[in-house]
Amino acid sequence: MTAQHKPWRVTTAAPAQAPVAVIGAGVMGAGIAQVAAQAGHPVQLMDVREGAAQAAIDKIGQALAALVTKGRMADEERTAVMARLHPAASVAELADAALVVEVIIEQLAPKRALLKELDELLPADALIASNTSSISITALANGMTTPQRLVGMHFFNPVPLMKLVEVVWGAETDPAAAEAIEVLARRWNKTPVHAKSTPGFIVNRIARPYYAESLQVLQEQGATPAVLDRALRGAGFRMGPCELMDLIGHDTNALVTQSVFEANFGDKRFQPSLVQRALVDGGRLGRKVGKGFYDGVPETAAPVAVPDTAAPLVTLSGQGPMVDRLAGWLTHRGLTVATMPEADWQGLWVDGLALHLTDGRCAAELAHQRRQPALAVMDWPLAPDRAEGLAVAFGPKVTEAQQATVRHLFQHLGWELLVLRDIPGLVVARTIAMLINEAADAVWQGVCDAPAADTAMKLGVNYPAGPFEWLAQLGAAPVVQLLEGLFTSYRSERYRVSPLLKHRLWAD
Ligand SMILES: NC(=O)c1ccc[n+]([C@@H]2O[C@H](COP(=O)([O-])OP(=O)(O)OC[C@H]3O[C@@H](n4cnc5c(N)ncnc54)[C@H](O)[C@@H]3O)[C@@H](O)[C@H]2O)c1
Repeated sequence: MTAQHKPWRVTTAAPAQAPVAVIGAGVMGAGIAQVAAQAGHPVQLMDVREGAAQAAIDKIGQALAALVTKGRMADEERTAVMARLHPAASVAELADAALVVEVIIEQLAPKRALLKELDELLPADALIASNTSSISITALANGMTTPQRLVGMHFFNPVPLMKLVEVVWGAETDPAAAEAIEVLARRWNKTPVHAKSTPGFIVNRIARPYYAESLQVLQEQGATPAVLDRALRGAGFRMGPCELMDLIGHDTNALVTQSVFEANFGDKRFQPSLVQRALVDGGRLGRKVGKGFYDGVPETAAPVAVPDTAAPLVTLSGQGPMVDRLAGWLTHRGLTVATMPEADWQGLWVDGLALHLTDGRCAAELAHQRRQPALAVMDWPLAPDRAEGLAVAFGPKVTEAQQATVRHLFQHLGWELLVLRDIPGLVVARTIAMLINEAADAVWQGVCDAPAADTAMKLGVNYPAGPFEWLAQLGAAPVVQLLEGLFTSYRSERYRVSPLLKHRLWAD
């Protein structure tokens, strides 16, 4: 790769002297034009659909006027921002731009043709960015005379609100060009993270298991969508996977899944789900059509009423960060707990029932292996101080009375008991372990570094913590054990453990 030593005009000139052009005046293009104009750049907006650019500028005007009404923007600023926005009728009119952001339809051929045209038109100190969410920057640059100046600048929807920008490097991207886009993103009040151009970049890749694991549980009839959503909200996620897929739209979500799967040559890790296919085929596309997993917005569960009877006796078994967290939750609720730190399993001992923290084995399997009929498994306690709901699966020989004891304990703790079919890894544990595993592979393969993965997941999809932050809290051992458990249960390469996690485990 030849480094470009000439400085890029978009970051060396003052914003007022660094014109920006945005091609594609759809949802994303309009948002990017707004953000650039708010940062002080004169902005040209162009679209092949006649009148689309002006219509988008008018819409930005309405959005800014609403901000003025709410007192969040001064009227003079709105006037100044609007004066910087201009529609353009053709690509030729954009020849003075210091940066052109391509935001057109998500298809390789038209994007490539446009980028080639821009490369021929623009002076050597102008940068070109693409907001593609799934096409390789390396592939887009193929055909340009100066592919070094093409950088992925992946914004998130809605652009004015979402802080994250993935700065995506194609194989030919000049490091100085990527750095200039990073500097620019910061000036535009965004948080940039660097990513190598690989399928899904950072967010759309690492987020796949958040949907895929719940879809797998649904396929196995392990739980209902409402139970899955309550379990993951209980772990601190703002929305559960099923309600989130309803919001995104199953067609859109299925397309991203399919694209990442195909781009990885059919790697089972990214295999799409028959459950989602059935929703798409049946037109249950989610909230936009009023039906998906839910026929509307899901109801939130009523808070659990704490009974005035005495709480059951609880003994904490084993040691480790998750046992410590359970201890914190129990004492926070005023329960007296005994401990048996030397035990060879982690979890709670409640009135003769062993409630194991899941390690990826089913309750039936553990009960059989340990010759312990009164055995159940519980999900990972991830939320720092409380859980709205926590999943449990009972072994086949657990009695009604023992189940009632567990329910009673959960009521005392204010948790909703979410009883699942006895599937390996329950809900939170398998989802979190797979998110960590995917992030670990992304870092192992040089797509991004660990802090970038954490930032991207917290800002791009609002996760309560980053995958490496979870890994630091839990340690590598339970994550690897959980994944090995799933791998053994399913005999599927989908659950293969990332080399990075193995190395973390060996180093611990
Ligand atoms: N919608 C999202 O949530 C999202 C998020 C991140 C990235 N993206 C990416 O942003 C890009 C645009 O997505 P969108 O959701 O804004 O789409 P959109 O359909 O709302 O807008 C695309 C616009 O591009 C115009 N267009 C198509 N071909 C053109 C051409 N050759 N020259 C000029 N204009 C042309 C269309 O007329 C349309 O107005 C895609 O690459 C998409 O993958 C979308």
